[in-house]
Amino acid sequence: MDNIVILTGAGISAESGLATFRGPGGLWEGHRVEDVCTPEALARDAALVHRFYDERRAALGRVAPNPAHVALARLDREWPGGLLIVTQNVDDLHERAGARRMLHMHGELNSALCASCGTRRAWEGSLPPGTTCGDCGSPTLRPDIVFFGEMPYRMDAIERALSDCDLFVSIGTSGAVYPAAGFVRTARYHGAATLELNLERSAGSAWFGETRLGPASELVPAWVDEVLAQSTQSSPMSR
Ligand code: OAD
Ligand code: ZN
Repeated sequence: MDNIVILTGAGISAESGLATFRGPGGLWEGHRVEDVCTPEALARDAALVHRFYDERRAALGRVAPNPAHVALARLDREWPGGLLIVTQNVDDLHERAGARRMLHMHGELNSALCASCGTRRAWEGSLPPGTTCGDCGSPTLRPDIVFFGEMPYRMDAIERALSDCDLFVSIGTSGAVYPAAGFVRTARYHGAATLELNLERSAGSAWFGETRLGPASELVPAWVDEVLAQSTQSSPMSR
């Protein structure tokens, strides 16, 4: 088993205290997703959308990585083969746990995007509508979040990794949002084994070769132990 691609979603951060999107009532922190996560919402009520993401950004300071993030960071450090963690999450818990071989396909709370020139820059604290871009001078900085209808980041790198992976693992995602929901099929098409780790079966559960149900803080560390134990057994160093 050489190349591993891992897709994570809101479920991996749930036990850190961050709300998932499609929880009870279908509301995200009291809002309908389409009221805070679309270009139309930003055009209609920029103050609401900016305030909403200011609150989410501030919440990052009150949470910490949980054992699932920590286990994936360990896998990143110790796995000798290829590895890519693709997260749909906009929180920074994977990197705070120490993961390096990762990317944020849906953007990041700690980043601002200029709607005029496309520059992305690290951002902390609040981001009021009308904030000026340091590059082009336009008052058009917005939260660097991929809204519905916008193209996720790094799709080329993701497609490359999927087409070359031996194992695809999906963790804590409902499988409701494309293109991420389609990654399992791409990986299968290229011959990868597929594993789902989730609290309940996701929308695309039938596409996975194996499903393990439970909380990420338990399932992920156990799975990482398994994978790393196998890799030491088969490595020439241990023979
Ligand atoms: P969802 O809220 O749709 O799904 C979270 C999944 O995690 C569900 O299947 C839960 O059963 C599962 N889950 C909850 N708690 C868990 C736990 N402790 N351990 C393991 N699994 C658990 O979140 P996503 O699938 O990430 O986009 O949502 C995808 C995208 O929709 C998000 O990236 C976001 C949203 O619109 C953007 O922000 C651009
Ligand atoms: Zn700009």
